[in-house]
Amino acid sequence: MAYNITLILGDGIGPEVMTSTRKIIDATGVDINWEIVEAGATTVEAQGTPLPELVLNSMRNNKVALKGPITTPIGEGFKSVNVKIRQELNLFANIRPINSYDGINSIHKDVDFIIVRENTEDLYSGTEHMVGEDAAESIKIITRKASERICRYAFELCKTQRRKKVTLVHKANIMKLSDGLFLECGRKIAKEYKDIEFEEIIVDAMAMKLVQSPQHYDVIVAPNLYGDILSDLSAGLIGGLGLAPGANIGEDIAVFEPVHGSAPDITGKNLANPTSAILSGVMMLKYIGESQAAKKIEEALSNTFKDKHNRTVDLGGKLGTREFTMKVIENMQE
Ligand code: NAI
Repeated sequence: MAYNITLILGDGIGPEVMTSTRKIIDATGVDINWEIVEAGATTVEAQGTPLPELVLNSMRNNKVALKGPITTPIGEGFKSVNVKIRQELNLFANIRPINSYDGINSIHKDVDFIIVRENTEDLYSGTEHMVGEDAAESIKIITRKASERICRYAFELCKTQRRKKVTLVHKANIMKLSDGLFLECGRKIAKEYKDIEFEEIIVDAMAMKLVQSPQHYDVIVAPNLYGDILSDLSAGLIGGLGLAPGANIGEDIAVFEPVHGSAPDITGKNLANPTSAILSGVMMLKYIGESQAAKKIEEALSNTFKDKHNRTVDLGGKLGTREFTMKVIENMQE
């Protein structure tokens, strides 16, 4: 059976890492009709919008998408396409596994946890306004519905993956109402899962503890902004953003994308590490039930990393995006 899957190459290094990922997935033999649609910088110029309705419709129809990073102008211009996609399609859970790889020179070894980030509200609701000329307000929205839903998702993930502990991140000492509500919801849901350990921690302390002892963590659940920041911090612990995959999960639609952005500093130079995108593709294959193909790629990646010469520049090596991709495909065929 062929799968229809939406593919958005994205901006910056997006086309480089997504082309690599597509080649590797195609090399597994899984039969996919890639429906390639454009969003981001190219469509702003050609169609006057960074997110044409056709792109959302493609994802609504196919239910599964693989997406490259899309640039968001800083401090001006259009709102984030990435946030809009998550909100429009109600992709309420952002799942970001953080795993250290044997042989990769990283700050920490034996790291294996998953960040479950609320994906639809918090300060990302985009409700901002000026108060006169010299003050600005951003409204942080936390609802019981979304908080209970994401906390339940974290506990269910913990259960299905046979993990042991959920850590909830908050700042309810300061934001007593908004983060207080998130924490209240987490505590309530935790009572339904007696076999799973539950702990809560203030976000600033969490940042320090993650740097010092990331091995302590198993499943981390957080409101949108803290989840976003801690994801990049966590990627830094295991070798960088080149190694951090992600998934945006809704009731019946899922969009898989690397944690990193469009990396304008290395765009078009064959320097990007495609591993985060490839691992996002692995998550996608597991989601559609193609576990064998997913395993094949995971094994090929880990065999590729066993040879110290097989490193992209971000990991201290010399391989370009394309050369690294070829090595993974070679290892898959062995
Ligand atoms: P970034 O993640 O693009 O880059 C941060 C640093 O990590 C840069 O030095 C970059 O070279 C490096 N890096 C990122 N991915 C890499 C890879 N695969 N291989 C090697 N090095 C890699 O973050 P930045 O610069 O803050 O954002 C650039 C643009 O991307 C912004 O417009 C931002 O809004 C957007 N963005 C989009 C996301 C998405 O589409 N989901 C997520 C994050 C940012």
